[in-house]
Parts: sequence; C-alpha cells; structure tokens
Amino acid sequence: MKTLTPEKIDAFRRALVGWYKKNRRDLPWRMNQDPYRIWVSEIMLQQTRVDTVIPYFERFMTKFPTMTDFAYAEEAEILKAWEGLGYYSRVRNLQIGMRTVIEEFGGEMPRDLKDVLSLKGVGPYTAGAILSIVYGLPEPAVDGNVMRVISRIFEIPDDIMKSKTRKIFEELLYQLIDPDDPSSFNQGLMEIGALVCTPTKPMCLLCPLQEFCSAHINGKETDYPVKIKKIKTKKIDRIAMIVEKEGQVLVEKRPEEGLLANLWQFPTIEVSLSDHPELIRLAIQKEYGLDLEWQETPFVHVRHIFSHLVWEMDAYTAKVVAENHTEQVKWMNESEMAQYAFPVPYQKVWQAFLKQKGEI
Ligand code: ADE
Ligand code: SF4
Repeated sequence: MKTLTPEKIDAFRRALVGWYKKNRRDLPWRMNQDPYRIWVSEIMLQQTRVDTVIPYFERFMTKFPTMTDFAYAEEAEILKAWEGLGYYSRVRNLQIGMRTVIEEFGGEMPRDLKDVLSLKGVGPYTAGAILSIVYGLPEPAVDGNVMRVISRIFEIPDDIMKSKTRKIFEELLYQLIDPDDPSSFNQGLMEIGALVCTPTKPMCLLCPLQEFCSAHINGKETDYPVKIKKIKTKKIDRIAMIVEKEGQVLVEKRPEEGLLANLWQFPTIEVSLSDHPELIRLAIQKEYGLDLEWQETPFVHVRHIFSHLVWEMDAYTAKVVAENHTEQVKWMNESEMAQYAFPVPYQKVWQAFLKQKGEI
C-alpha cells in the first residue's frame, strides 16, 4: 500500500470533493441536514439500492414528518411503512434509538461519536455517516462501497470479509478525510462507489480519482477488494454405536471411494442428533439389519472438522437384541482392531469408550 504526501492528500481531497459537488445526485435526503432524515435514509440504504429507497423514504417522511412523529408511532404503523424493505428489526431499533435521542439527549442528535454509537442500531458506519453529513465532523463512514473504492486506490490486500479489516480502512480515512468538508468527502466516496467504481466494470476513464489509484495504474482494478470466499461448511449429524459382545465390537469398512475411503468405523447412521429413538432404531435396522438396545445418553460427542464438512457425532454403547446383521459389519476384538486404520473421530470415540469403561 502506497502512502501519499501532504500535497497528494490535498489534491486527492480537491479532486473528490470537487467532483462530488458537480455530480451529486439530487436525492430526497440531501435537501437538508436534518439528522432525522439522514438517519432514516442511512438505515434504509443499508439494505436496499438508492432507486428502491427513494419512494419508501418519501412515503416515510409524509407519514412521519418529524422524529417525534416516528418515535411514538404504533409498532404496526412503523412496520407497515417498512413493509418490503426487510430486516424489520432495523425499523424497531430506529424507533428505540430515536426515543433515546428525544428522552436522553433533549431531542438533539449528539455530536460525540461514543454517544451516537450508543444509540440502538447505530454501528460505526451509520455513526460516521450521521456525524459527517449532519455536523460536518471528520468521521469516516466505511461501508462496502467505500471499501471497494479505497481498496482499489491503495491496493489494500486485506480480506474485506473479515470484520477487523474495517479498522484498517477507518484509520486510513482518518488521514485522508477532508477536514473542510467531511460530508462531501464521505458522500463523494459513496457516490463514486455507486456510479463509477462499480463491482465488475469500474469506469476508470470517468473517475476523478484515476491518477491516485494504484489498482488502475497497475491494471488490477478487479483484483480488489480482496474477498476471500468462505466455503460453506456443511454440518452432518452422525450417531455411532459401539456394539459390544464378549469382548468384541462391530466394525465396518468405509466405501472404496470418497471421504476417508477404505478406513474403518463403528456402525454409524446419519440422522439428526435430536431424532426420536424409534427413528434411529429404524435407520440402524435398514442400514445394518441390526436390532439394538442402547443407553439413553451418548457417552461422548465428537466434532470433526474436514475442509468443507463438519461431523457432529454422538456415540452410544449398545447391545444386540437380535443378531441378523448384514455382511457389511463384522465382529472384531481389540487386538484385531489395532491392525486396521480408524479415522481420528472414531479413535476419539474409542478412547472415550475405554475411559468410561474404566479401562484407561
Ligand atoms: N449510500 C449510503 N449512504 C448514502 C448516501 N448518503 N447517499 C447515497 N448513497 C448512499
Ligand atoms: Fe475505481 Fe477505476 Fe476510479 Fe480506481 S480509477 S477508484 S478502480 S473507478
């Protein structure tokens, strides 16, 4: 990440603020600096695009012209006004927050960052937006759009999906923000993010920040922001049975293909851990042809994390009621078992089993 000289910082501010003043859209929440209107708009804009927000915002202001009108409206009314925007807890929090402003801050939006952050539903982004737009205070407002623009300009290598990365952007923006016009500076970045520096096809030729932009200079615009996709880990509930008879237990070989191929395990079924015992009994019947009787509670729970998969496995000790099991399982004693490979989660099950039996 390159650093800028004071002269460059100055030029950056002038380019950004100058562009914003010329190109800013005439949006209904930009007609004044009423904290009530700014606050409502920022919460609405967190979940939906500007085009969608405009009619909602207009209707909202007609219905609740002032903070007091909204703060003491019936819940059904505020939910109705929010209908279709989603995340209904946001409008409830907004009302709680506004009551706080009225009842604890004398109806005036506080100027102190800590106070603003203490309001229900207000996080660092919203607080920065409110303080800069309403009071012209030099507080950064870092949302996804701003991170995209700034990450490109400075080629910031940090993963924006990580929550601690926001701080890196904030610190940089405290250096960069224009102390003479924080409102235009912040809204300029938002506006460039929305109109110019778009996710897949940034229009660098129209961008006022082109000459400051490392990613553009290096032709790497779309390498930023760095977003490391989390692979969704799939959770699989498993129930393993240690079926004992005269010093032997039932084991089976895993399939030849796939996860932990050809390794050995205790009879196991994939059912929800909270399933009814009867359902578990039927699943075991079907899979192994076994009629079992088992203790009420598992003697161990083992969690095993694979790269994209998590096993949540309960293990029980069980006795055979009627032995007519399939070929799939066979009896083994402990010394035989020592010659076969069992995956780690099953080794853990076995160790826990020996321990509760008092053998180790
Ligand atoms: N997105 C979030 N805040 C915004 C604002 N004040 N103007 C335009 N887009 C925004
Ligand atoms: Fe985004 Fe291109 Fe502007 Fe850089 S030059 S900020 S990549 S639009």
